[in-house]
Amino acid sequence: MLDSIQGRVYTVTGAASGIGQATAVLLAELGAAGIALSDVNEGGLQKTAQLCSKFPSTKITTETLDVSNDEATRQWIENTVTEFGRLDGCANVAGIAGGDGGTTTATINQQDWDRMIGVNLSGVMYCMRPQLQHLRRPGGAVVNVASTAGLHGLPKSAAYSASKHGVIGLSASAAGEFGRAGIRIKTVCPGPIDTKIFRDGEAKGLFDANVMGGSTLLGRMGQPREVANIIVFLLSDSASYVTGAHWTVDGGYTAC
Ligand SMILES: NC(=O)c1ccc[n+]([C@@H]2O[C@H](COP(=O)([O-])OP(=O)(O)OC[C@H]3O[C@@H](n4cnc5c(N)ncnc54)[C@H](O)[C@@H]3O)[C@@H](O)[C@H]2O)c1
Repeated sequence: MLDSIQGRVYTVTGAASGIGQATAVLLAELGAAGIALSDVNEGGLQKTAQLCSKFPSTKITTETLDVSNDEATRQWIENTVTEFGRLDGCANVAGIAGGDGGTTTATINQQDWDRMIGVNLSGVMYCMRPQLQHLRRPGGAVVNVASTAGLHGLPKSAAYSASKHGVIGLSASAAGEFGRAGIRIKTVCPGPIDTKIFRDGEAKGLFDANVMGGSTLLGRMGQPREVANIIVFLLSDSASYVTGAHWTVDGGYTAC
């Protein structure tokens, strides 16, 4: 049923790198008619567009966008709908981490807190607000990317953990609002995945990547494609009875 991706139109934020890039490429591989890519990283966006261009039946648009900018994000979604004439699914992947690394809730810098909540939580809401006005009814789907840190506390990364808890609550609430309209909204919670955000956290001394990977049940870190597989599955008609749910893709990290 992954052939349900064919001919449909998607948006992907955080598309310049890691999980967002892998999601965009997989959607193109599966024959999406159009994918609107956005990210703050213009160079990375062009790289993703180039990777997708191997699948010429997919039309790609790119937009340099900070998802914490409400008006710019709304305009991007409006432009996408004008360009493609429809919207079938949205992967809201963009995120940051580690801004409050090393500090506790007693000392966290206000700017770091505002930025983390602004990108990771408000950014998802700024995406969903216009997306939910245009998604196909019935049949549209949203997948928001949270984290296993949205399921448990993360000392010295309280803003990150709080923002990701917020994404899960926001998604489940919106799922309740739009279920009867036939729009499915779900959250994916990755564990340790080998991407830039993860390696940056390691470089800041927040954790050791090998220890984190080794503490999963599978004994290794995940790859971006392994998360993209689940995001695209949840966007597809194969997940037609899944909404309001959060799905861990963490090699079993949270299970034991
Ligand atoms: N890699 C992991 O271990 C892991 C674990 C749990 C959750 N996540 C989540 O997965 C998502 C994707 O991260 P990734 O692992 O692919 O890392 P990544 O660093 O490869 O990708 C994140 C992307 O988001 C973009 N971005 C950052 N701030 C932005 C903004 N304000 N507006 C638009 N784009 C912005 C970056 O430029 C980058 O391209 C994030 O939401 C992250 O919190 C990752």
